[in-house]
Amino acid sequence: MVIEPVHTLDHVRKSFNSATNRTDRSQIGQFLTPAAIAHFMSSMFETGLRHVRILDPGAGAGMLFAACVETLVSQKDRPLSIEVVVYETDSTILPYLDETMKRSQSLCVSNGIVFHGNIRQEDFVLAAITETKESLFAVPGARFTHVILNPPYKKINSQTVMSRMLYSSDIEVANLYAAFVWLSMLLLEPEGQMVAITPRSFCNGPYFKKFRTEFLRMMGLKRIHLFESRKKAFGDDNVLQENIIYHAVRGLQTPKSVTISASEGLDFDRTHTLSVPYDQIVHPADRDMFIHLGIHDTDVGPAERMRCLTSSINELGLGVSTGRVVDFRAREHLRQSPEQETVPLIYPCHFLNGFINWPVQSGKKPNAIVSSSETSNLLVEDGFYVLTKRFSSKEQQRRVMAAIYDPTRIGAPLVGFENHLNYFHKQGKGLPADLAKGLAVYLNSTIVDQYFRLFSGHTQVNATDLRKMPYPTHEQLLRLSRYVKETIPDQETIDDIMEKECLNCEQ
Ligand SMILES: C[S@@+](CC[C@H](N)C(=O)[O-])C[C@H]1O[C@@H](n2cnc3c(N)ncnc32)[C@H](O)[C@@H]1O
Repeated sequence: MVIEPVHTLDHVRKSFNSATNRTDRSQIGQFLTPAAIAHFMSSMFETGLRHVRILDPGAGAGMLFAACVETLVSQKDRPLSIEVVVYETDSTILPYLDETMKRSQSLCVSNGIVFHGNIRQEDFVLAAITETKESLFAVPGARFTHVILNPPYKKINSQTVMSRMLYSSDIEVANLYAAFVWLSMLLLEPEGQMVAITPRSFCNGPYFKKFRTEFLRMMGLKRIHLFESRKKAFGDDNVLQENIIYHAVRGLQTPKSVTISASEGLDFDRTHTLSVPYDQIVHPADRDMFIHLGIHDTDVGPAERMRCLTSSINELGLGVSTGRVVDFRAREHLRQSPEQETVPLIYPCHFLNGFINWPVQSGKKPNAIVSSSETSNLLVEDGFYVLTKRFSSKEQQRRVMAAIYDPTRIGAPLVGFENHLNYFHKQGKGLPADLAKGLAVYLNSTIVDQYFRLFSGHTQVNATDLRKMPYPTHEQLLRLSRYVKETIPDQETIDDIMEKECLNCEQ
């Protein structure tokens, strides 16, 4: 099998960029996608189709469809035929586009795939409106299995023919990119897939409400990729827009979750990924249908800084579970104060300065649970554990609040952790004391908080989220543990310690 690396496509892009003027290019919104992004976008499509029809509207030099063809050809279950339809209005870029199409053709032919390419030098918006109009005389064209696009970004002038045509087709958009995405989804066949890179401005704000509503109604949003550094997405073009990449499937029922990922610029090998429940991305009661990405300007960089933390919960040999005592189900076994035959029951109200402070007499919560054969599977052996609160209030300083359960301060053979807590353990039992201390320092750091806010728009801290996070290595955790004495250090000190730890590994 002969496959040309997609990066040779960057030559086409660069030679076009150097042959043309940047101001002219930006006037028609002509920012060509770097090969690394094109490749990354192509990798998002689900595979397995025998006959593929790709649409690339506003194709420029053809980076996107070419990367897509290359990805399809390199797959084990590659298609039998690929058809590519592209639209492009700028005549200066057509020779480059033509060359890219020929390359894709020869790649397919040399790999035994039937290929058909069609370059349409016409306005995509006008052509697509005609294609999708349901009128008596319209002959609807074939629909696409794949759409890949980086459309032009430009305000639509309301005095133009295009604006009037869009309006009469019920496509109300203020920017050309939204018109491109809207028409592209109409041209997809059922279960056809779209991967697009566009500004993220459509995710909120009133101007995009109609577009957003229609997009979320017609398409199942499966993935969103964020760039942590705004300027890096288009490299040498230095586009200031904040761009996002998204993958969506036509007609898919609202998915249960959306994969959110983030990378610093084009470094896709070090992408951080989280699965976020759909209703936290689009709140069910929100009539404006905002798409919450949970990332703010101040958040830029946390995933980048987390890079120095290369371990995982599995690598550390640890586990995280949710507290087993659901208090209203175990009511008969709970006691306000410790008695004979009881063991400690730990709630979030027992958190104090990074440790578990038990018992708490003033609290409304019971302090103890009877230890008997009926409750034995709710309890764990005594030992060092790190506990985190599952629910945080908005006022709370950080999302992740951790405290150390130090058995020497409590002196009980068993302990119950209530269901509002998650606990870190080693195969169900306690952790070595220094590991627990180091872990508590890490979990209470601002860098973890920022990382959480970046990925989760909600205040809940699930065990799954904690399992997916990056962690310091065993050695780093031991170094962190040395700062824990009677209490855990204050916030400033914790953040300084973490900063030093990250600096150390950059050197
Ligand atoms: C942002 S560039 C992206 C090019 C290419 N998709 C890529 O990713 O490298 C958008 C392209 O759309 C073209 N374009 C602008 N308006 C168009 C229209 N109405 N119909 C078709 N192409 C258009 C521009 O000439 C430009 O090449």
